[in-house]
Amino acid sequence: MLTKEQNDELTQVGPGKPMGELLRHYWYPVAFSADLPLGHTKGVRLLGENFTIYRDGEGTLGMIDELCPHRMASMTYGIVEKCGLRCAYHGWLFDETGACIDQPAEPDSSQFKDRVTVGAYPVEEMGGLLWTYIGREPVPYLPRFDVYVMDGVRDCGWAEIPCNWLQVMENSVDPHHVEWLHGYYFEYLGNKEGFEAPKAFQKKHEKVAFDEFEYGIIKRRLLEGQSEEDDDWKVGHPLMFPYGMRVGGAGNDQMQIRVPIDDTHTWIAFYSCHHPGEDHPVDDPNEVTAYELPWKRDDGTIVTDYIEGQDIMAWVTQGPVTDRTREHIGKSDLGVVKLRRMFKEQLARVAAGEDPIGVEREPHEIIELPCEKNKFGAGGGFATAWLEMGSSRYSPQLDRLRSIYQNAFQAAS
Ligand code: FES
Ligand SMILES: [Fe+2]
Repeated sequence: MLTKEQNDELTQVGPGKPMGELLRHYWYPVAFSADLPLGHTKGVRLLGENFTIYRDGEGTLGMIDELCPHRMASMTYGIVEKCGLRCAYHGWLFDETGACIDQPAEPDSSQFKDRVTVGAYPVEEMGGLLWTYIGREPVPYLPRFDVYVMDGVRDCGWAEIPCNWLQVMENSVDPHHVEWLHGYYFEYLGNKEGFEAPKAFQKKHEKVAFDEFEYGIIKRRLLEGQSEEDDDWKVGHPLMFPYGMRVGGAGNDQMQIRVPIDDTHTWIAFYSCHHPGEDHPVDDPNEVTAYELPWKRDDGTIVTDYIEGQDIMAWVTQGPVTDRTREHIGKSDLGVVKLRRMFKEQLARVAAGEDPIGVEREPHEIIELPCEKNKFGAGGGFATAWLEMGSSRYSPQLDRLRSIYQNAFQAAS
């Protein structure tokens, strides 16, 4: 249980708030590359602030504050020029550095534009996503985590959900929920609705452990019938501080992304790179097949007959910002306690003027992350069960993914 003040400190992500300052030390994905062709703009909301991202006629990417510094019209409706973005209202033109380079209605002799700037932020492309950084300088390097740059077939289901990002992160250090939410609840639904739920999730957790590492917390589980030599314990998988979780198994390496839009909204994405066997296809590393996940029916109920839908049900029903003054934390919530402590420690580092963990100050090609391969001891069958019972079932390339796994299994047998 937390006090209201502790809960507020952990969950308020806007500018000037302690957590807002901590979260502004990291790069975030804010759009898919394919959503922003040459000459297009897109509105972005990140950490409680609004921006306009654009790709100008020369292909330069820029992200600036949404409101024009003249008289505050939205730049998302702007005119994309060969170089820069022009406000639709009176034509002020800005480049990707935030400099104002034209004010057509001002007198020719005016120097006024030299005194006007708009907030501007770096944008980089990686893995078919557009990434930005809105914190203070010096700008850290964009971390090139393995899933975004490895060879394979990229696939990403996403949704915007009406709850605080921390609820989603706490789920990443909560191994016991798997037995119930994805195990027994899934089976209960299957019996009621006439489908067969996967059994791999029901295995009892004999023990769990949470070890800090340089990017967050490695989560380990020992399921009944397993030994400490099994991947789930020996390797485990990491919570990626402060907004991700890396998971994997049998040819599907995945990053689960939870971008805080504001205090009560989160952009969640399940970004997979599929590469089973030796002979899998390799797609353009800058392209990803993206699709929105259906999570809510027209009658307002939540779709819970797939794995990620079950998690979304838990996160959303905990409330826009879960009231942690009313919770009852038990021994099995050890990981949640550890994560809250890590946030507290990192808030203190930021208050002392230091970088929090995981801020990249060195150039690099790839950051390989520890992640189990044989998840739940379920072997290759896990990857195909995950395709059918997880969010990939909504992928427009589901048939292609099925055949990629079938070919890999045939080649192996
Ligand atoms: S409000 Fe943008 S140019 Fe006037
Ligand atoms: Fe889950």
